[in-house]
Amino acid sequence: MRLKITVRSVLPARESGDIIVVGVPTLGGSKKKNARSTLDGFDRALGGALGRLIKKEEFKGKKDQQLSVGTLGRVKADRLVLIGLGDVQKLGPGDIRTFAAKAARTANADKAKRLVLGLPEGLEGRLREVVEGLELGAYRFTKYLTGDRRPKAELGQVTICCVANAPADAKRVVDAAQAVAAGVNLARDLSNEPPNVLYPEALAEAARTMAKETGLEAKVFDFKEIQKRGMQLLQAVGQGSVHKPCMVHLSFTPPNAKRRLVFVGKGITFDSGGLSIKPAAGMGEMKHDMSGAANVVGLMSIVARLKPDVEVHGILAAAENMPDGGSYRPGDVWGSLDGKSVEIINTDAEGRLILADALAYARALEPDVLVDNATLTGACVVALGNSCSGWYASNDATADEFASAVKGSGEQMWRMPLLEDLKDQLKSDCADLKHTGDRWGGSISAALFLREFVGNVPNWVHCDIAGPAMGDRIRGWDPKGGTGHGVLTFLSMIEASARGEGTVKPLAAAPAPAAEAPKAPAKPAKPAKEEGTAPAAQAKKVAARKAPAPKKRARR
Ligand code: BES
Ligand code: MN
Ligand code: ZN
Repeated sequence: MRLKITVRSVLPARESGDIIVVGVPTLGGSKKKNARSTLDGFDRALGGALGRLIKKEEFKGKKDQQLSVGTLGRVKADRLVLIGLGDVQKLGPGDIRTFAAKAARTANADKAKRLVLGLPEGLEGRLREVVEGLELGAYRFTKYLTGDRRPKAELGQVTICCVANAPADAKRVVDAAQAVAAGVNLARDLSNEPPNVLYPEALAEAARTMAKETGLEAKVFDFKEIQKRGMQLLQAVGQGSVHKPCMVHLSFTPPNAKRRLVFVGKGITFDSGGLSIKPAAGMGEMKHDMSGAANVVGLMSIVARLKPDVEVHGILAAAENMPDGGSYRPGDVWGSLDGKSVEIINTDAEGRLILADALAYARALEPDVLVDNATLTGACVVALGNSCSGWYASNDATADEFASAVKGSGEQMWRMPLLEDLKDQLKSDCADLKHTGDRWGGSISAALFLREFVGNVPNWVHCDIAGPAMGDRIRGWDPKGGTGHGVLTFLSMIEASARGEGTVKPLAAAPAPAAEAPKAPAKPAKPAKEEGTAPAAQAKKVAARKAPAPKKRARR
């Protein structure tokens, strides 16, 4: 449920609610004379008890320090909570979001329905992050809880009290921030859905529903269409499940768009590993293996609401990776939408396969930048831990652009290298490529495999979000479970493009996307269900074929 948020220029001590949370910068720091503090009025109301407690607990307003006081009715809320902020000037977008998220969580933990949030001077200009933090911190996935397990009370109303003047455009900022947070929360909801409920068609349906509600264009390709178009890798991964794979293409195409950005997401609704089955411990976590696709849906919902002057496409490849008599197998050779043949080594490396076809589809849209995101490798989690994703860029200009988007969002994402010498790992004896290398550098070899399918798109970014897409505990503004990690960075990139930042390549007449062109001419390999292994010869034939003849189309 969306919070009802009002912004006022008033001391928090004057407002009433169930709980008051105030941000407190380092106490005793260089304070302007007569500057108002979020604490003004509380000590007197509490008969000096607050001052004594601050001293006793050594609360100094250091970042992340916290102090909670029961008010016994002496102020207009049952509880007052102080959250230290340190030096306000030094707070990045993530710090502010985390502060506001803590306030919302504290309110929910206290069963408070009405929160008063005190913002010290300097934060009134950071309302967007504050509101995002509130909505993201208030998030809980309670859909499947019944009876006593349901939350007794839910935070519904927040009064943001600016001790300095509230910005004149506060309402507009609040609305935008709520649209952003709703998109991230949608990505979280989808990620958290159990795999018996959210199978590929259900994910596609969720995307379609969102598109309908927000006015985006949506195309859904079912299993038949996938086969017809020659997306054999998506077919291979998905065919072992009773829930067949599908693909979704969402688009936002405003007139006068400055650039065209395309985002692709991995949508494995459950990753059992397939015939190369995973160990039992932790397998349930793999319900989150569609988080990349969930991010694309969430991101597109935000784009639809904020309407930037940028053309944005969202593409999701969805499949369930299951062991079955009809599953693809290690040793199989499959063709692909790109045309290259791929030798299957380990059916648990399914993500790069479905992404390969999705990227080959996406590149036909001729993006200025093509970005994919996927819970792709355990190796990336080994490298960077649970709170940071790894990203790769095909050139340094694109890397600079993406790095500044990361900085703008406050998400933790670290650039990784596309080491050319690891490419040898992907050499196959019987196909153009094999899809996995050895254990070492596993995230890098996965990225190198994907690069084979981006064709001549010059600007490509791949994000391996395997670690932070799902949390084992609360971190910053993220809850336990699905996080939506990545959405804010992608949005930051779109918003920078709307401001005219980023390198725009010349918009000359260019060939039309194969996505729009007549259906792929080559026959896909026969499904393994009927024929057994797709013959290598068939895959070779597919590999040899040329891309469909491009139709001329003028670009804006
Ligand atoms: N979905 C997993 C990667 C993953 C691991 C995501 C942990 C989130 C947390 C992916 O499909 C996978 O199984 N990757 C294998 C690749 C290997 C077989 C080359 C892996 O990382 O072990
Ligand atoms: Mn896997
Ligand atoms: Zn996977």
